Amino acid sequence: MDLKQNDRLVTLEEFIIQSQNRFPGATGELSQLLRDIGLAAKIISREVNKAGITNILGNEGSTNVHGESVKKLDTFADQQLISSLERSSITCMVISEENDGIVRLRSSGGKYIVYLDPLDGSSNIDVNVSIGSIFSIYMREPRFDPAVEEKEALQPGTRQVAAGYVLYGSSTTLSYTTGLGVSLFTLDPSIGEFILTERKVQIPDHGTIYSINEGSYNSWDLGLKKYIKYCQEEDQETGRPYSARYIGSMVADIHRTLIKGGIFIYPHSKRYPDGKLRLMYECNPLSFIIEQAGGMATNGKKRIMDIKPDSIHQRTPIYIGSKENVEMVMDFLFEYAEEEAV
Ligand code: AHG
Ligand code: MN
Ligand code: MN
Repeated sequence: MDLKQNDRLVTLEEFIIQSQNRFPGATGELSQLLRDIGLAAKIISREVNKAGITNILGNEGSTNVHGESVKKLDTFADQQLISSLERSSITCMVISEENDGIVRLRSSGGKYIVYLDPLDGSSNIDVNVSIGSIFSIYMREPRFDPAVEEKEALQPGTRQVAAGYVLYGSSTTLSYTTGLGVSLFTLDPSIGEFILTERKVQIPDHGTIYSINEGSYNSWDLGLKKYIKYCQEEDQETGRPYSARYIGSMVADIHRTLIKGGIFIYPHSKRYPDGKLRLMYECNPLSFIIEQAGGMATNGKKRIMDIKPDSIHQRTPIYIGSKENVEMVMDFLFEYAEEEAV
């Protein structure tokens, strides 16, 4: 792991500028956008860390577009990210979990569209368990009119120009990709800077951890039930039984999966017929990260990033993680699909 350059630490800002310099025609706008997100992340991280003493824990009293109760930190994170993006006039439109429709920014001429899950894992806020922020960045297509429209945001995940997440855990880390591998940074709170901790993160091809909310077992498809039983069987060669880990903050579960390998699953169920997690600001950005690290992400039938979106808040089932684990669950789903249909 090459953490230092010329024996000194590399900050997120430096790293972004160095990466940009490798592309002679680059305008620097995407770099600025990533730095804006980095700044908002530091402010959110500061607030998360003092949440208990500043009366920012708990419900705000309203519900969001999905009928879920909104936490004060959800709103705070949403506002910080949007106002940070507004500063540099590069982003024309934001789509956030916390806003029903699109949010047009003053910089309507900006060429970037940004999706946000400002605070992921809200149910863990009040119990001091890791939470995160997720972002996904697209470009406007030049053929569209100056007035930015929602349909412009309905692009498949393969069109993301950058994506990443911030994890507010035992330390605050930021991971992002622009399609050239995944870089990982850790916030040093004493100097207020994200410091490069890994340049090209690679997910193991095979992992021995499975991550799923087993409370919904009774309403899973037969293939998934059989796969989870397979994970629990003993087999030395494949490291089974696997360990079960489920944090309930997708960012945290995916971060662990990225580092240690294994699989994270949020399937469809009776309660969530289309899955629970949101395609555009949870599944696509985290799939981009995992794929860039050498892993896989599917909805059980096709690659997540190939899904053509119909709406900005749509949900999808997801099977994501180490290549071998995802291929194995796909085999199970395929094998038992016919049996179940009979
Ligand atoms: P959010 O807090 O942004 O609404 O997301 C919560 C999501 C995700 O982070 C997590 O993986 C999942 O909800 C957990 O859902 P269950 O409680 O149904 O397992
Ligand atoms: Mn979320
Ligand atoms: Mn959220």
